[in-house]
Amino acid sequence: MSSFEKEVKKGERFQFGKNWHRFLSVLNEERIKIAENSLKEMLRKDNLEDYSFVDAGCGSGLFSLAARRLGAKVYSFDYDPQSVACTKELKRRYFSNDSNWEISQGSVLDADYLKTLGQFDIVYSWGVLHHTGDMWSALNNVVNLVGKQGYLFIAIYNDQGFKSKFWTRVKKTYCSGMAGKILTLSIFIPYFFIGALAASMIKRENVFRAYKKNRGMSIYHDWIDWLGGYPFEVAKVEDIFNFYFERGFNLFNIKTSCGLGNNQFVFKRSMPG
Ligand SMILES: C[S@@+](CC[C@H](N)C(=O)[O-])C[C@H]1O[C@@H](n2cnc3c(N)ncnc32)[C@H](O)[C@@H]1O
Repeated sequence: MSSFEKEVKKGERFQFGKNWHRFLSVLNEERIKIAENSLKEMLRKDNLEDYSFVDAGCGSGLFSLAARRLGAKVYSFDYDPQSVACTKELKRRYFSNDSNWEISQGSVLDADYLKTLGQFDIVYSWGVLHHTGDMWSALNNVVNLVGKQGYLFIAIYNDQGFKSKFWTRVKKTYCSGMAGKILTLSIFIPYFFIGALAASMIKRENVFRAYKKNRGMSIYHDWIDWLGGYPFEVAKVEDIFNFYFERGFNLFNIKTSCGLGNNQFVFKRSMPG
C-alpha cells in the first residue's frame, strides 16, 4: 500500500483527485480561458512563451493546461494518483504526444524528488502547500524549484483563528469515514446551498453560474473540496510575506481574502547571475 493510500485509510487525507475527476466532466473552453486569464493577471504577462512552468500539486491539471496553452513548457506533479490521472487525461485531450508537457507523481514534501526536477521560471502551487500535512516544510521546499530570476505563485488559506480551527474539525470528520462524510455533507451542503441562493437574490445574479469567474472553478466541486480538504493549515498574510522575504523573494503581486479563502501571492526571486 502506498503512503497516500495509508493516509486515506487512516482518515488523514482527502482524496482530492476523486473530486477533480468529477470536475473534468464540467470543464469546457470558457473555464479554460478563465483559468488562462487568472495566470495572465497575477503574473502580469500576456503569454508564457519561453517560460518553464512547474505545477506543484496540479489537481485537475487545468492550470497546467492553461500554462501550456499560453506557451509555457510545463511540468506537472501531484501526490494523489487520481489528480495525476486527471492531468494526463487533459494532456491526452488537448496536447497529446506533446514533449513540452511532462507529468509525474510526486510530493512537495519529498526534497529528493524535487531535486530531480531542477529549476523553473514559474513555480505554481495554488492551494496545495496547506494540504500537505507540513505546510512550512512545503513552503520551504518549493524555494529550490524557483530559478534565479523566477516567480513563485502560491495560494494559502487565510488564518481566521477560531473559525479556521472549527473548519479543521469539520474536515477531519469528513475524512474519518463514511459516517463522518455523510454527516458533514448533510449539514453543510444545504447550508451552502441556501447561502448561495440568498446571495443570488441579493446580488440579482445567479452565483452558481457566476462562480466560474473564480479561476474557472465549479461551486459544487469547490464545496466538496472545502469540506473534505484535509490536512488543512492556514497562515497570516504577513507570515507568508516574511517567510519569503527572509529567503530573498520580493512581493510581485497579491490578492488577499478577507474571509476563509486563499491569500494569493506572486513572489519574484532576484539572485545574481
Ligand atoms: C485544492 S487542490 C489544488 C489543485 C490545483 N493546484 C488548483 O489550483 O486547482 C490541492 C492539490 O494538492 C495536492 N497535494 C496535496 N499534498 C501534496 C503533496 N505533498 N505534494 C503534491 N501535491 C499535493 C492534492 O492531491 C490536490 O490535488
